[in-house]
Amino acid sequence: MKYKAVRGMEDILPGDMGIWQYLERVARKDLESWGYDEIRTPILEDTSIFVRSIGENTDIVKKEMYTFKDRKDRSLTLRPEGTAPIARAYIEHSLDKTSPKVKRLYYIEPMFRSERPQKGRSRQFHQIGVEVIGSGSPFADVEVIRQLNGMLKLFRLEGATIKLNSLGCASDKENFAVTLKKYLEERKSQLCGDCKERTKKNVLRALDCKSETCIQVVRQAPSILESLCIPCKAHFEKVKERLAKEGIEFKETKNLVRGLDYYTGIVFEITHPALGSQDAIGAGGRYDNLIKDLGGPDTKAVGYALGVERIIIALKETEALPEPTRIYIATLGEKALLEGAALATHLRTWLKRDKNHMIVKFIEDIDGGLLKAQMKRADKGKAAFTLILGEDEIKNNEVTIKDMETGEQTAVDRSSVVAELKKRLGKPC
Ligand code: HAM
Repeated sequence: MKYKAVRGMEDILPGDMGIWQYLERVARKDLESWGYDEIRTPILEDTSIFVRSIGENTDIVKKEMYTFKDRKDRSLTLRPEGTAPIARAYIEHSLDKTSPKVKRLYYIEPMFRSERPQKGRSRQFHQIGVEVIGSGSPFADVEVIRQLNGMLKLFRLEGATIKLNSLGCASDKENFAVTLKKYLEERKSQLCGDCKERTKKNVLRALDCKSETCIQVVRQAPSILESLCIPCKAHFEKVKERLAKEGIEFKETKNLVRGLDYYTGIVFEITHPALGSQDAIGAGGRYDNLIKDLGGPDTKAVGYALGVERIIIALKETEALPEPTRIYIATLGEKALLEGAALATHLRTWLKRDKNHMIVKFIEDIDGGLLKAQMKRADKGKAAFTLILGEDEIKNNEVTIKDMETGEQTAVDRSSVVAELKKRLGKPC
């Protein structure tokens, strides 16, 4: 029997790890600088947490959850998303009673949804997510979008679009559902099978149906924005006004609804053209009732999650993929081996990482032998430079730096290796 990974779940091999570590490193550093603290919750939760929060008539709950009974016959689910578990943890640990009042939390974790695998859609995928819990201010929404927008820039991802809408509060949503239901029922014959069902149970989802006939019907449908109450309208206007003032581009998208029922108020989605049909690289919004609905205090919150695999696809397509720089250390003889090790340690301290969060890897040749064999290994190991320490270099207290692309070799004084490498890497360290 030939074993394979579970369908839709992928190994991340060392060759791909550079980009993962890069994204995680940039994200952590950026999020920490905005005052976020990391939170980790278990991979498994009681199934009812997700049914209650995401909604029993959503695709996630109806079709996509990995749900099973444990040995004590309890129904458990591999988390399909991170917001509900964090709401559960917030309530369980009474985080509302600890300071600061507004909790800025982030997570970088795997999620599980049993969807049909395709480009940008897997059954185990990873999210970088944030939740700002304890504020209903429109500035919380703005801050979350500002941080997200800035982080995409730090990732060097170009071409993403922010789509923005408001679903209004729970009663706005309910009122609009009645209006939309009436409108769609009158045009039932033009709807696809799924939307006929949605009209009965989850009518808002008909708004983002991809079927051509439904798109036509929905185009003329009443807008959710007409159902917003005065405070919700004012909140939405404030967010838009502030984003515009901050110079953050967004596209108001009246048919943007989300596949999770807990959203109220602002919702947004980040799309990228490199993704094709699965074009959302991230999404989020307000969920002011979730914590109360799960039995906690009345606590307003907003957040988002980015799909890491989708960001990697977009980065690969836009050729903005950062690569670590490898520097090989080749030595000849026992004395050079020891001095090479000391030099590598010294360089690791000084050339840890550059301003763009790129990693410089110093690889010491551990197999020794002829210089030719070591250079071959350096070449195969994709080294950008090789530092050579032979007899002459030891005698003269020098290091020879070989540029592996041009083949050019320069002997430099040992004391100026750091400065020379910084110059050649072209970026300040
Ligand atoms: P979501 O829209 O379900 O929101 O997922 C967020 C992102 O996760 C998507 O935009 C997409 O990039 C990625 N994603 C979702 N499903 C898959 C999949 N099967 N394969 C690959 N990537 C996927 C949430 O999960 C909310 N919890 C976000 C949030 C946080 N809202 C408020 N706070």
